[in-house]
Amino acid sequence: MTESANGAVRLDGHLEPVPDEIDAVNLPVTGVLPPELTGRYLRNGPNPLPGETSSHGFLGHGMIHGVRLRDGRAEWYRNRWVRTGRLAGDPFVRPDGTRDLAAVAANTHVIEHSGRLLALVESGFPHALTPDLDTLGPCDFGGRLTTAMTAHPKEDPDTGELFFFGYGIRPPYLTYHRLSADGELVHSAEVDVPGPTMVHDFAITRNHLVWLDLPVVFDGELLGRGMPFRWDDGYGARLGVMPRNGGAVRWFEIEPCYVFHVGNAWEDEAGRIVVDGVRYSPAAWDRIWSAIGGVTSGAGAPVAAAAAQGGTCLYRWVLDPATGRAREEQLDDRWVEFPTLNDDLVGRGNRYLYAVVDDSAAGRTGAVVKYDLRGGATQTHELGGDRVSGEAVFVPAADGRAEDEGWLLSIVSDRAGTGSDLLVLDATDLSAPPVASVHLPRRVPSGFHGSWIPDAH
Ligand SMILES: [Fe+2]
Repeated sequence: MTESANGAVRLDGHLEPVPDEIDAVNLPVTGVLPPELTGRYLRNGPNPLPGETSSHGFLGHGMIHGVRLRDGRAEWYRNRWVRTGRLAGDPFVRPDGTRDLAAVAANTHVIEHSGRLLALVESGFPHALTPDLDTLGPCDFGGRLTTAMTAHPKEDPDTGELFFFGYGIRPPYLTYHRLSADGELVHSAEVDVPGPTMVHDFAITRNHLVWLDLPVVFDGELLGRGMPFRWDDGYGARLGVMPRNGGAVRWFEIEPCYVFHVGNAWEDEAGRIVVDGVRYSPAAWDRIWSAIGGVTSGAGAPVAAAAAQGGTCLYRWVLDPATGRAREEQLDDRWVEFPTLNDDLVGRGNRYLYAVVDDSAAGRTGAVVKYDLRGGATQTHELGGDRVSGEAVFVPAADGRAEDEGWLLSIVSDRAGTGSDLLVLDATDLSAPPVASVHLPRRVPSGFHGSWIPDAH
């Protein structure tokens, strides 16, 4: 990704958008697809229309890429734009100054909850999709949702409730929401934060919510120039712990950083809150935000400076209510993103966390990594060649007893952009060759997040 002379971000190689929607059937497979992988792997990401330019790599209309697996076969691939108001040309700001949350590109994630398939973006309403990836329309849960909805809601593995939030550039800056297991929006409450910041993710534990209040702040001067957020050295950084059933947030100061993605959070036996996430040092933020078209103080920090500050690595914060202090620990020195886990352990003490290594600046090739957070060991699946992996989604085996019994599904592309495969890895042994590779009929641009939607629930 490079910035061209007119300020547009040029998306090339594995990032280059595709120009159209296609369908293909009976996809060729190398290896053996586990028959119990019967369902659809769906992945969202930005894909501008032909001829459109983007001023920031996070913009661009959402496009869902879907692969249908059944009984050991790869039945179909299809891709569809998410048809939001923005795709139809509706303005985000209406003539009367109000905002149209349906006129935002829903390009970040796709999930299923309570029978609804939803395309998500943090700055707008979710959009409901059919199983065949056609867009039904914006979803505001019967008129009860009046804020945007994060692309990273969290489903409680025991109750089936969906916890999420919306952030805004005008008060209320942060609003907390909860869906019941059957998809009804049953609770919304404002969360008191010092100012408007970019809040990409959060965490839940068995009893608490964890808020990220980090120094990437809204700046009205940047409106109309891509993403209107910039680093602010004066804002500070804190993690907030709030009881799930409401109540005051207790804030814990941490070293300034940014976190797009939390891996997981949980409560230990001493009542401390443990939060694992991918931490961007200030220099790493500067380097990466600049590279994708964001406004930074300089031209992007040199990689050595970013690495010296900790890069984009897996960190752990332990928040101790007894002392009011946060302890911070770097868990690894690989530059990673897209942390995932067995979703049965969201908010619980997980042993394993998976992530994608994109560390070419340090001379490391693309890989999927598995962290053993208790034993300390890591396993990697080296992709070989100049290939990059998207987020690796964990699918538990039907009879899996161990936390890591299951598969990782990820779309892997070569950096030059000539083709893509859906890789199926055995999560118990990442160093083994892929269980199967589904050869996709076209290059799938590297994007953001996806889900495995099994036929049987
Ligand atoms: Fe994300």
